[in-house]
Amino acid sequence: MMLATLRSCVALAVLPALLLIAVGATAAEPDLVEQGRRMYVDGVRVSGQLLQATQNGAVKLSGTQAACVGCHRASGMGSVEGSQPVSPIGRRFLFAQEGDLVMANMDGRRGKTLNQTHAPYGDETLALALRQGVGMGGRTLSGVMPHFALDGHDISALKAYLQQLSSDYSPGVNKQTIRFATVITPDVSDARRAIFKAMLQSALVSKNSSTAPRKRYMSSAASFVTQTERRWELQVWELSGAPQTWHAQLQAHYRDWPVFALLSGLSDSSWAPVDAFCQAQQVPCWFPSVGVPSTGDADAPVAYGLYFSRGVTLEAAVLARDLLGAKVNAAPKRLLQLQAGQAGAVAAQAFAQSVRAQGRSVQNLALTADAGETGLRSALQQVRAGDAVALWLDATQLQWLAGMTPPSGVKFYLSSSLTQASATKQLAPEWRTAVQWVYPYELPHKREANLAYLHSWLKLRDLPLVDEVLQSEVFFALNLMTDTLQDMLDNLYRDYLIERAQDMVSKRESGKAEQESRDRHTLGRAGRTVVNAELVHGAAVADASNAVATQRRAFALGDSTGTSIYPRLSLGPGQRFASKGAYIVHVDADGALVADSDWIVP
Ligand code: HEC
Repeated sequence: MMLATLRSCVALAVLPALLLIAVGATAAEPDLVEQGRRMYVDGVRVSGQLLQATQNGAVKLSGTQAACVGCHRASGMGSVEGSQPVSPIGRRFLFAQEGDLVMANMDGRRGKTLNQTHAPYGDETLALALRQGVGMGGRTLSGVMPHFALDGHDISALKAYLQQLSSDYSPGVNKQTIRFATVITPDVSDARRAIFKAMLQSALVSKNSSTAPRKRYMSSAASFVTQTERRWELQVWELSGAPQTWHAQLQAHYRDWPVFALLSGLSDSSWAPVDAFCQAQQVPCWFPSVGVPSTGDADAPVAYGLYFSRGVTLEAAVLARDLLGAKVNAAPKRLLQLQAGQAGAVAAQAFAQSVRAQGRSVQNLALTADAGETGLRSALQQVRAGDAVALWLDATQLQWLAGMTPPSGVKFYLSSSLTQASATKQLAPEWRTAVQWVYPYELPHKREANLAYLHSWLKLRDLPLVDEVLQSEVFFALNLMTDTLQDMLDNLYRDYLIERAQDMVSKRESGKAEQESRDRHTLGRAGRTVVNAELVHGAAVADASNAVATQRRAFALGDSTGTSIYPRLSLGPGQRFASKGAYIVHVDADGALVADSDWIVP
């Protein structure tokens, strides 16, 4: 397979010109396209009847089961079903003229399985493929591709839809460049803002120097032939004012600077307005560092927001499970909670819901908005020994605890993503040992290998380690974007970006493919950086190659499970939240984190 692929790449490379799209642009009637869309997405024929099909000569499929989107995906770029590649069937793939070069990676795990090319389909040949499973040139298609009962109207409608599907790059992309923006909400502290921007800036500089025309980093033969290494351009969109005004601010930015995707991002309050903007505009929102990703679940065909986790909502569910789930007998008599701020309110609501789902209820300790320390003090007077109290406070509100003594016999719980991880150190000493944390990250001693690259990357760039959670998230988001774009070759469609990420995250984060890709990408690139850096400053080099060795050893031993601060990231089709659990931890007298539970997946 690999040989054949390489050979075809070489053959293609000597073509005089690499033409990509050259299909006569006959704009189909809009209602024909809409009728085609209904078949493709909803499995409903032009007549209004459900789509009917037979798979492998025996299995009957009907309606949404038979809808093309299930296998060929929203972008039409296909996927892999088991080990069967599902062909890309967008305009450029079905109707490309002979000699046009269209390439798609069929299998992110192997990275080198390309699509089959063929002469352009016409009405008759398309009908033959759909009704009888006979492809161009008389090739018998795999039985996984169903045989459909379709009349002439249906075929025309499907053709019209396929002719406009993924026919052009998404906005924000041209042959040379790809535009991104990153969003920061107004609540973020100066310190976090500064390190976040420094990380992005530094990453962009090294990214673009590795794709400069003469220094082209050849990641694969296919991406070399298709010349898909693009320069990245990034704007930082710093929002201001009330959340209700953010949507309009984002729209104004977007009008001036249409972007392919929002890359990373930073918020310590609510991200929901940004998520809503992305969904409305169909702009991918790519792994921002946020505590409250979105309040609703998108049930659109493509959910454009991808997140590390459900944030405080996940933490609330984990806490409810820990308090009420397994340890039925040890469950506290009374559950209480106290919240401040917008993010705290989301957490409190999620906690109440999770607790109710376990057949219990939680009592809210009221705290007036401006009450501060006084309000907290009086609220906590209602707490008695034996109670379990969730304090949904952020890093600033946490300071209110300083002047108080924790009542004995009460279990207090805090959220890590609301308070940010460094808060474990800021807490007043008498409270530090009295509280437990919901901790959605891998434990510090277990994540060293996962983050070895980050640490050496920071050293090489003279960037301080200020906030490991934030910095590792940004690092991961950028690397995953690089890998995913490479994998997409020249097929830069936003829905395909999301689909590809959903396919890749789990695979990239585990197993052999990950190791290979690491060797290819990180060793290839970081290795080169190391060599360059050697000429400049000697000391960093030893660390960097140690980091590489540490991480490879950890992979070989199975100690390391990924490249992020989360124990395991995985996504599937339609999924938006990659990490699914958390620990309950406490801080011991020496300031070390100690796990009080296993990794809990509620
Ligand atoms: C159950 C999964 C599945 C569904 C549903 C499905 N397909 Fe396919 N389709 C496949 C697979 C797998 C192939 C690749 C077969 C092969 O190459 O042997 C394929 C191939 C094709 C091809 C041939 C592509 C080529 O390059 O020659 C066309 C055209 C096609 N599908 C159109 C459709 C349309 C239109 C629909 C909806 C009406 C649809 N498919 C629904 C799985 C599916």
